[in-house]
Amino acid sequence: MNKKINKILNKKNKSKVICLTAYSKNVASILDKYCDLVLVGDSLGSVLYNYRSTKEVTLETMISHSKSVRLGVKKSLMVVDMPYNTYRNPKEALKNARLVMKKTKCDAVKLEGGKKIIHIIKFLVRNKIPVMGHLGILPQTEKKFTYKGKKVSEQNRILKDAKLLETAGIFSVVLECIETKLAKKITEQLNIITIGIGSSANCDGQVLVIDDLIGLSQSKFRFVKKYANINQIINSAVKKYKFEVLKKRFPKAKHSFNN
Ligand code: KIV
Repeated sequence: MNKKINKILNKKNKSKVICLTAYSKNVASILDKYCDLVLVGDSLGSVLYNYRSTKEVTLETMISHSKSVRLGVKKSLMVVDMPYNTYRNPKEALKNARLVMKKTKCDAVKLEGGKKIIHIIKFLVRNKIPVMGHLGILPQTEKKFTYKGKKVSEQNRILKDAKLLETAGIFSVVLECIETKLAKKITEQLNIITIGIGSSANCDGQVLVIDDLIGLSQSKFRFVKKYANINQIINSAVKKYKFEVLKKRFPKAKHSFNN
């Protein structure tokens, strides 16, 4: 098994697994210093391209951003989201996953879903593609963006899905907006790593979209904590730049070339 995956698996019940999303090199190289896992999420569809849903994200877009992220990620495990409609059957999934891994040199791919895609995940793992799962809110196909695990029947289904995914050979699973006690139960009953987003501190690790964490996006999700206001910093820098150009204070001689 990939050494980086083993390192993450070894953190179970010992230390939290730190994950963030990245969509480009410069940000990725900062995250790489602090993260165990960097995810090129298809959330880039809404965050960068204003798509109404991640359904619109293409394989080409994911590959292009992932190539950029690869330049910044040296030590962390790099995972790339397989976009919607790129893993409808085992053959299609393997062809596309191989393409993503070959072009981006990522360490693993992430697929959304439980029981419905178990045969696809098994096929990928059998063909040596490391896979991360994703349960709870599934943005690619979701109809109702509310937290999961309200009803006992839903709790049982999600727990069963998590166990099935583990048996299929995934090394980790993202739990998106799963009720607190259910997240605890899943984390306790699985040997693989659970990564929460909006799923309480009861997971083995946490992930957030970097643009949300640094305050670059305008998102107001309950599960996001803004650790900085980069929006404000960029605003004041650009405002100052505009002022200095208008007043002819920039560029100075030291920024120019003189014979
Ligand atoms: O697409 C994404 O960024 C994700 C994370 C939020 C887990 O799937």
